[in-house]
Amino acid sequence: MKFHYIALLSFSIIACKQEPKKQTTEKEPLPLVRQDDMHSFAKPNKAKVKHLDLHLEVDFEKKQISGLATWDIETKENTDEIIFDTNGLLIDSVKVDGSSVQFSLGHEKKYLGRPLDIDIKPTAKKVSIWYRTIPQAEAVQWLNPQQTADKKYPFLFTQSEAILARSWIPCQDSPAIRFTYNATVRVPNYLIALMSATNPTAKNSKGVYTFKQEKPISSYLMALAVGDLEYKQLGPNTGVYAEHSMIKKCAAEFEGLPKMMIAAEKLYGPYQWGRYDVLVLPPSFPFGGMENPELTFATPTIIAGDRSLVSLVAHELAHSWSGNLVTNASWNDMWLNEGFTVYFERRIMEEMEGKDYADMLSVLGFQELQATITDLGPTNEDTKLKLNLRGRNPDDAVGDIAYEKGFCLLKTIENAVGRQRFDAFVTNYFNTHAFKTITSEEFIDYYYKELIGNDKTLAEKIGIEKWVFEPGLPANCPKFNSTRFDAVDTALEQWIKGKPASSLTTKNWSSHEWLHFVRHLPDSMTPEQMKELDKTFKFTESGNSEVLAAWLTLAINNHYVDAYPSLNNFLEHVGRRRFLIPLYKALASTEEGKKMAKGIYASARANYHSVAQVTIDEMLK
Ligand code: BES
Ligand code: ZN
Repeated sequence: MKFHYIALLSFSIIACKQEPKKQTTEKEPLPLVRQDDMHSFAKPNKAKVKHLDLHLEVDFEKKQISGLATWDIETKENTDEIIFDTNGLLIDSVKVDGSSVQFSLGHEKKYLGRPLDIDIKPTAKKVSIWYRTIPQAEAVQWLNPQQTADKKYPFLFTQSEAILARSWIPCQDSPAIRFTYNATVRVPNYLIALMSATNPTAKNSKGVYTFKQEKPISSYLMALAVGDLEYKQLGPNTGVYAEHSMIKKCAAEFEGLPKMMIAAEKLYGPYQWGRYDVLVLPPSFPFGGMENPELTFATPTIIAGDRSLVSLVAHELAHSWSGNLVTNASWNDMWLNEGFTVYFERRIMEEMEGKDYADMLSVLGFQELQATITDLGPTNEDTKLKLNLRGRNPDDAVGDIAYEKGFCLLKTIENAVGRQRFDAFVTNYFNTHAFKTITSEEFIDYYYKELIGNDKTLAEKIGIEKWVFEPGLPANCPKFNSTRFDAVDTALEQWIKGKPASSLTTKNWSSHEWLHFVRHLPDSMTPEQMKELDKTFKFTESGNSEVLAAWLTLAINNHYVDAYPSLNNFLEHVGRRRFLIPLYKALASTEEGKKMAKGIYASARANYHSVAQVTIDEMLK
C-alpha cells in the first residue's frame, strides 16, 4: 500500500507543475489545474465511476435501506485501486467483474466518513458492492405516520446535498464526478417510490419500481422518497406529487408551473431533463427546496394558498440549468450553483410577474445579504464567493453569501455589458458546459475569453477577482430598490409616528410587502403595539410561512406571549432549517428563552432531519 501513496504524491506534484492556460488579460494566472475535491476520498485520476446500477430494498421496520450498487468504472493506466466514499454504511461484500475481492474501510474522518478502498487492475470494468444503511444514516429521514400529512403510513426521504449521498449509497461523492444511473427499488406495496429520474405516476401491487437517469449527474443529486403519494399532471411535462390530503392544494398552488417552464426555456434554452415534477414533502424537510433532477423536493411551507411563494419553485427549476446541467466542481465553488440560480430565478419571476415583483425579491435578498455580512464581519473569509471549506462541513457554509453575493456579481456584470449581451453569454455558458463541472477559476477564464475579451476598462469596471476572491461587498455593488416597497415604508413610518394600524393603506399587499413590513418594524415594541398589529393584521395566524417566521422572531424578542402557542406549534412541526435558525437563536439570546428553547427542542428534535439537528444541537449546547 505504501508504494501507491508515494506514486500518488508524485503524480499530484506533476499535476501541480503543469503550466496553467494563458489568459487574455495580464493578471496573475489563475490556477486552472484541478485539485482533488477536499470533501471526498475518491481519487478520480486513478479510477472513476461512469454508471450506477442500483438495487435497493426499503425496510421501514428496521429503518434500513439495503442492496447492491454496481458501478461501471473507468480506469487510468497503472491503476491499482478505486476509492468510494461511505458514511455509516455497512459493507457486506465486494466483487470486481464478478469475482469476490478484498476491500478495506479506512479511518473515520469528521464529516467525511470512511474511504472504501478496493484493489483493482487497470482492466477492471464493474465494481459491485453489497451494503446496508444504518438507522441514523444522515441523508435519510424515516418518518412515522404521525409526521406525515395524512397520518396513515410511514414516509422516507433523502437529502444528499452536500456530502450525504455517501450515507445511503457507496459512491464517489464529489460534485466533480458525473454518472448515469438505473435503479430498482422494492418498498412495502402500499407505498410508492420516487427518485431523481424518470418516475412512476401510480402505485403498483408489487411495490417494485424502476428508474432511469440517462443524463450524467453528480452524487449530491441522488434522491429517493417513499410514501403514500398521488400524482397530478399540470402541463405537458410538469406535475406534482403529494399526499392525498395535500394534492389538490398543491396542484392549485403550482398551476403556473407550465408557464414557468416556458419562461425559463425562453431565457436560457431548452430544458434537458424530460419531465419536471415537484414532490411536496412532509414539513420536516430541512430545506425550502432541493433540485433533484426531474423531481424537485419541496417543503410544504410554500403552500401558502395564494401562490405567493412560487419563486422557490422557480429557483429549483432554474437549477436544471445552473447546478444540474453546469455543476460546481467543488463545494468551495457553490456560488456557481446558487448565485446563478438566484439570478435565473429572479429573471423567471420578472418574466412571469413583471419587474416590480422581481425587484421586491432582490431587495429582500439584499437585506439578508447585508445582515449576513454585518453578522460575519466584512473581512470574514466566509464572505468570499470562493470558499475554503477544508476541514469543515459544507452544509454549515450554506448561507446568503453564495446566493446573494453571487447574485450581486451577476447583476453587476449584467449592468456593465447590457442584458442582451449577458443573456447570450449565459446561454452559451450553459451550452458549452452542459453536463460538465466547473471551478470559479475556470469560470473566470471563460468569462474573460467569451465576454470581456481585451476590454480592460470593462474588466476593471466589474473587477470579478475582487468579487470572487475577496471578502465583503465591493464598492461597485449595485443598489436595489423596489417601488412597491416605497408604499410599505410610508405605512411603516406612519404607524411608528402613531397612526393606528387599522387606518394604514395595505390594500393588495403581497406576502413580500408584508415580509418587508414585519422585517422593518422596530426591534423593540410594547405588548400593546404587538397586540395592535396582531389584532389588525393577524400575523400570528398567517398562512404564509415567511411572514409567520419573521413575526414569531419579533414575538420572541418582545416577549409577546400571545404568539407562543403558535411558536410552539411551528417549532414542533416545521423542520426547515432557514426558519429554525433565527427562531432558536432569538430564544437562546436570553437565559429564560434558552430554557424554553431547550424544552421545545427536547420533543421537537425527533421531527427534524439530521442536517437541522446538527445545526440546532450546536446552537443550544
Ligand atoms: N440546493 C439548495 C439546497 C442546499 C444547498 C442543500 C446546499 C444543501 C446544501 C436549494 O436549491 C436551495 O437553494 N434551497 C433554498 C431555496 C431558496 C433559496 C429559494 C432553501 O432551501 O431555502
Ligand atoms: Zn439553490
